[in-house]
Amino acid sequence: MGLKRLTLVNSMQSDTLQKFIFICSAKSCSKNGSEEVKSALKAYIKSNGLKKEALIVKTKCMDFCKSGPNVVSNGQLYHKVSVKEAKEILRELLRD
Ligand code: FES
Repeated sequence: MGLKRLTLVNSMQSDTLQKFIFICSAKSCSKNGSEEVKSALKAYIKSNGLKKEALIVKTKCMDFCKSGPNVVSNGQLYHKVSVKEAKEILRELLRD
């Protein structure tokens, strides 16, 4: 299972190392704005030519429903993420 997952991630990469931001898209987080956060990040990535560097991944419930929208980036879990905060999380991820 672990090897298959690594193979899948590797096949999605081209010549640069792509980084991932995970956004909960389950019911509570969606109600609290996760779809807006996801759309804003995707638009930011597209308008800044970052498609090879960053990928937004929708997830199922992370079990922190009262604190959504929940975002995971670089091993960190962020709660109640606004669009502005999500862009900062993405910029920070790409600086690493
Ligand atoms: S709905 Fe997002 S953590 Fe549960």
